[in-house]
Amino acid sequence: MAIRITRTSSPKPQPDVKKLGFGKFFSDHMATCECVDGKWAEPQLVPFGPLSIDPAAGALHYGQAMFEGLKAFRGEDGKVRLFRADANAKRMAKGAPRLCMQAPDPAKAVEIFHALVALDRDWVPSALGTSLYLRPNLIATEGYLGVRPSTRYLFYVIASPVGAYYSNASGLEPVRIKVELKLTRAAPGGIGAAKAAANYATSLYSAAEAKKEGYSQVLWMDAKEHAFVEEVGTMNLFAVIGDELVTPPLSDSILAGVTRDSLMTLARDKGIKVVERPITRSELEAGTAKEVFGSGTAAVVSPVGELNFEGKKVMINGGQPGPIAKALYDELTGIQRGSKPDTHGWLKLVE
Ligand code: COI
Repeated sequence: MAIRITRTSSPKPQPDVKKLGFGKFFSDHMATCECVDGKWAEPQLVPFGPLSIDPAAGALHYGQAMFEGLKAFRGEDGKVRLFRADANAKRMAKGAPRLCMQAPDPAKAVEIFHALVALDRDWVPSALGTSLYLRPNLIATEGYLGVRPSTRYLFYVIASPVGAYYSNASGLEPVRIKVELKLTRAAPGGIGAAKAAANYATSLYSAAEAKKEGYSQVLWMDAKEHAFVEEVGTMNLFAVIGDELVTPPLSDSILAGVTRDSLMTLARDKGIKVVERPITRSELEAGTAKEVFGSGTAAVVSPVGELNFEGKKVMINGGQPGPIAKALYDELTGIQRGSKPDTHGWLKLVE
């Protein structure tokens, strides 16, 4: 596939690695590719900068928009590798039809990711816990006010050198979570299984309310009864109950996390029994979970130290990260850095 490259004439200075945080800095280039009436144009790498978009674009009015998140790592050998880019590209292709959109062919999307990271390889940091986070987006760009699927889309990818996701957490510091027992993130038959921008818009209010009370995020329950746990913040959820690592089964209100899948695979490799089954509010409220943690690309593993059920506080593992969360975090980040063997072939060298 041909990719047209226009290099920036004013490269930016590299940020101080200690100040990276999450998503504050962006690399010198971005990838763009337009789709009109179902036909994709030649992708381009262009200087990072504002998009020119029709003010009547469907993404802006009707939320026909979705995104992805994946990372490139600089290994201990200094080489740059993308982690499971194919899984993210396939997830976008799978989710797009639910929003009446067409994503690029996954193999082509992966080529675009590689080309962008190759061009901006100097932006891939090397310090422990850092990476270059890629944010692919798919947005409806046709200027039209009728409520119907757009005939034009823009697929674009920006890249941000990142450190820890939670500003108060470095590595595995547990977070305090408020259990959301009124509002919901996703409902049966809805779009919760797609990485739709709207799912994040709908989560903001609860998260903001939780923050006012000193909590980092909320625990999302099912929309019908608020009896079953679904996700935690923007992440999939795991709990250690008895001698099992438990996670809710995928449904149309739970995102099929790439990190979720990776952790389940690594846990099984370690001989841990992994069970996908509904987790009830009452078992977490009764304190049966030895560990609770979130999993996602951004934070990798985020241990939960406290759950607040409308004022009833349940401490998890004494507010400390548990051994399974730690072991899985070390294994996955070790693979990503190249200090542990990549037995599943998840890393692909950026040439
Ligand atoms: C992730 O956990 O990787 C997410 O999807 C969060 C992201 C929206 C920042």
